Amino acid sequence: MKRIIAGVTGASGSIYAQNFIKRAAYLGIDLRLVTSDMGASVFKHETGESISVYIDKIKGSPDCRGDITFYDNSYMFADIASGSCRTEGMVIVPCSVKTLACVANGIAGTLLERAADVTLKEGRKLILTVRETPLSLVHLRNMTLAAEAGAVILPAAPGFYHSPASISDLADFITGRIFDQLNIEHGLDTAWKSI
Ligand SMILES: Cc1cc2nc3c(=O)[nH]c(=O)nc-3n(C[C@H](O)[C@H](O)[C@H](O)COP(=O)(O)O)c2cc1C
Repeated sequence: MKRIIAGVTGASGSIYAQNFIKRAAYLGIDLRLVTSDMGASVFKHETGESISVYIDKIKGSPDCRGDITFYDNSYMFADIASGSCRTEGMVIVPCSVKTLACVANGIAGTLLERAADVTLKEGRKLILTVRETPLSLVHLRNMTLAAEAGAVILPAAPGFYHSPASISDLADFITGRIFDQLNIEHGLDTAWKSI
């Protein structure tokens, strides 16, 4: 089973987190999930259910072929706080500009931030699905810093050229792009086709 860490922070766009968690579970990924406090609050606000209820729902689905381990963000003794826990990489989806700032500047005060810091130091793929608009110079500089350190900035900005029929199609677009970065076959209809 491929192991991926996913962080959920308090940026708008919980639907991207929902979609990524579901697709990863259906693909048979060993998902290591951690949310910031605001990540959990915004998830509840935007989706109407707590992330732990959502995880249980996905785990109980007949389509679930993977596993989801849900960590407390204050538990710095967790395996994902160490580089010895080998993973294919980590995605922060959605990623707030506050967590972006922490990642870009090496601040690792929570498990989520520490796991991101570890992913960078181990030279593994770190994907930041940043969501904010407009962007200040501070945000842009932090994105540059993070990119220079090896992170992939993958904004929550879906394309529209694949004729999305639903919000879920838009979320699938971003999920597909995240899996592309992790080199994981996903079967989602997100690739451009010649016309
Ligand atoms: C409903 C709601 C929506 C938010 N949307 C965003 C957003 O899109 N991007 C962002 O960077 N922060 C957003 N915030 C602010 C973050 O939640 C806040 O900066 C928080 O401290 C981020 O902490 P975290 O990165 O540890 O989750 C939002 C807050 C709320 C209450």
